Amino acid sequence: MQFPYTEKVLEHFRHPRNVGKIENPDGKSMEGSPACGDMVAVYLTINDDTKVIEDIKFESYGCASNIATGSVITEMAKGKTIDEAKSISWKQAAEELGGLPPVKAHCSVLAVEGLRAAIRDYEEKHGLVTEKEPTTDEVIKRRLKHVMNPLTGLDVIRTDLILKTSVEDGIVRVVVDLPSDHQFASAIKEDIIEKLDSLWDVKRVEVVFTE
Ligand code: FES
Repeated sequence: MQFPYTEKVLEHFRHPRNVGKIENPDGKSMEGSPACGDMVAVYLTINDDTKVIEDIKFESYGCASNIATGSVITEMAKGKTIDEAKSISWKQAAEELGGLPPVKAHCSVLAVEGLRAAIRDYEEKHGLVTEKEPTTDEVIKRRLKHVMNPLTGLDVIRTDLILKTSVEDGIVRVVVDLPSDHQFASAIKEDIIEKLDSLWDVKRVEVVFTE
């Protein structure tokens, strides 16, 4: 059977570079594709003085194109400063692979967004984000799209696990449609807090379960 992929895509898919997880990363992300529902996680080790990406790993829950682009962007980003790495585009990643079928462009977008989100996570944790967007319900929902619902493998927003969100005086409240003694309750709570408490104007995050 003839695959619609270049040799380089197939080579990266079969032998992806930098696969895995970094323990205690300086920046990390979990991005989902609105086009197909697949996910990618990116982990970074960044030198605080030079802002150079010293190590990068990724995990893909996506297709062959996503694995290949995830692999190639880790090679492109390693050794670059975060500003240089942020400017890597999905087109450059696809070109580096010798091209991707047009229907697979979103898979490379997902990989590049994963890299950018991990850099943004680092920047937020280190007070490097200059444009300060106030936290609204919309911002909260956008963030919560990166929290996985372990019951389904998709995020908590798309699977309607979040009943309500609100923000007032820097206190964010998130109501989760699960009993507090559910086996995944504490993991989900931890993940929600982690995604929201680094926002510049958030003082506290309260996660409330339905009973
Ligand atoms: Fe989902 Fe490629 S089809 S990442």
